[in-house]
Amino acid sequence: MKFRAILTALAAASLHEASAKPFGQRQADLASRIEAENKIALQGVLNNFGPDGSQAPGASAGVLIASPSTDNPNYYYTWTRDAALTLKMVVDEFLHGNGDLQYHIRDYVKAQAIVQTVSNPSGALASGRGLGEPKYYANLTRFNGDWGRPQRDGPALRATALITYSRYLLSTGIDSDGTEANNIWPVIQNDLNFVAQYWNQTGFDLWEEVDGSSFFTTAAQYRALIEGARLGKQLQQDVSAYESQAPNVFCFLQTFWNGKYAVANINVKQSGFSRSGIDANTVLASVATFDPEASCDDTLFQPCSSRALANLKQYIDAFRTIYTINKNISASATGVATGRYVEDVYFNGNPWYLTTLAVAEQLYDAIQQWSTINIITIDETSLAFWQSAYPSAQTGTYTKSGYSDFTNLTDAVLAYADGFVETALKYAPENGALSEQYSREDGTPLSARDLTWSYASFVTMRAARLAATSDYGQVPSWGSPSNPQVSSTCTPSSVKGTYKPAVAAGAPSNAPACTYLVTFNLNATTFYGENIYLFGNSTDLGDWRVSDAVAGGAEYYSDTRPLWTFTVELPAGAELEYKFLRKEPSGEVLYEVENRSLHVSECGSESPGEQAVEVNWNGPVGSQME
Ligand code: NOJ
Ligand code: NOJ
Repeated sequence: MKFRAILTALAAASLHEASAKPFGQRQADLASRIEAENKIALQGVLNNFGPDGSQAPGASAGVLIASPSTDNPNYYYTWTRDAALTLKMVVDEFLHGNGDLQYHIRDYVKAQAIVQTVSNPSGALASGRGLGEPKYYANLTRFNGDWGRPQRDGPALRATALITYSRYLLSTGIDSDGTEANNIWPVIQNDLNFVAQYWNQTGFDLWEEVDGSSFFTTAAQYRALIEGARLGKQLQQDVSAYESQAPNVFCFLQTFWNGKYAVANINVKQSGFSRSGIDANTVLASVATFDPEASCDDTLFQPCSSRALANLKQYIDAFRTIYTINKNISASATGVATGRYVEDVYFNGNPWYLTTLAVAEQLYDAIQQWSTINIITIDETSLAFWQSAYPSAQTGTYTKSGYSDFTNLTDAVLAYADGFVETALKYAPENGALSEQYSREDGTPLSARDLTWSYASFVTMRAARLAATSDYGQVPSWGSPSNPQVSSTCTPSSVKGTYKPAVAAGAPSNAPACTYLVTFNLNATTFYGENIYLFGNSTDLGDWRVSDAVAGGAEYYSDTRPLWTFTVELPAGAELEYKFLRKEPSGEVLYEVENRSLHVSECGSESPGEQAVEVNWNGPVGSQME
């Protein structure tokens, strides 16, 4: 052996110290390391749970902060998505017998009932638009800063978490008269109405960067509508909107497939957007819509489906060469570090724990499905994936009974999946803390510390692995259709919903149930770089704080009509004072001279009603700078 080759061999050996041990032994080691980390991960989630979590001072009851990090990045907020995905994990653990978790679930229900009523820059509850707000302060107040909003996955994911819990309540004698489930239903109903009304409108993706249609969001919405209709029927509710929209969402979901993988974002509004579309978005979608009773149907993108496996291979391979820590790892059957998408530059673009663990989870989910249906079908679509896990794989159908192929194939997938868990554990610090990212250069933890979602992803991965390798119970089925038909033409439609504070679940009874979408049309000539804001004497108008003022839109601005528009959802009957201001490129602020007043119309037959205000700028004009 040449010296260089020896060094490479040594490096490879130290990267995979464990591989010298026999396979069974390695799995046993891994299983015990997973159990140890799982305890830390579950505790890590509870530490971030208000009001008592040790890392979440000031968080209201039932609020899950994203991370205790308050600086670089500041994640001391609650994101609807992160919290909902985590709560789904908490419900699943509760269903597995961890009874101590129930009060957290009940706190969460109440917190969500409250936060649904909090008006915010996306809108208010009465129109449903406010439900698309991505994040709130830990005390459940609105966040007015610039952000990628709305995000339309949150309501669907929250519905899924609450539906899973409600179904449990109804299936056991605990909630024999259905009171608890019936009290939760109005929270779920608001979220499902939002999905049925807005699924066909664009919004920001789960990474809060791309304004368009996101595969993850659409998949989560489809699941929520299907299981929401099922629960609603059980509770004798009107579910016609969910039943009418689900096939449309399902049809739309198919359009993301490009023949090789699911493209994460389509209909992107931002100009100059160019990415391959290979993104953990799609892997997380498969994991979030896993149904242990589903077949490997491609249209449902279930973990064991050929399309989801082909997609997974594209996703994994995209990261093999871009991270230094993945160099020298052979291309097949070995786990690697994976991140959000290869073009990522956030914190310089690193692997994330939750995305690396999602790869393993998809594969553990798939193993469960093959074991249930007793059959593996390798076709042209999935062959390349299979050959990366099991080099001699060929197209064909492999049944469990009588043949070793089935076992060889599932063992290979199990080992492959384990490699991703090994990778995440390898780059976790000694104390088991999981941050958001780990360095692409050397694997050191980066970005937000103790990320709730990282911990939750570890716990769900562990449960999926146990369900794949033992008789540990599976997550409940969500009732995915067994032979879903895709209509030949997709119908982009919508059902307008009604939205009400879920008072029985804990929402404040004085929350505005009747609102107006007030459009302010302001004629104000501006120059490039100069922006106009609106502020006034109510929370919706920023309480006269410049930092909380509402930003105007200049989409309709033209030479003939210098139009700035603002749409704010305001409580019916409100008496308000407001004015406009200009922010100069220099940072200087120029105010209109006099306060204006507005009487929002009294509650009419329709909420939200619509009202328009037409005015001209009345104040100093900025001097253009060169
Ligand atoms: C914060 C978002 O949460 C993150 O996903 C994004 O990458 C950065 N902002 C940059 O836009
Ligand atoms: C940034 C991530 O991109 C986003 O998905 C997440 O919701 C927030 N951080 C909070 O964890």
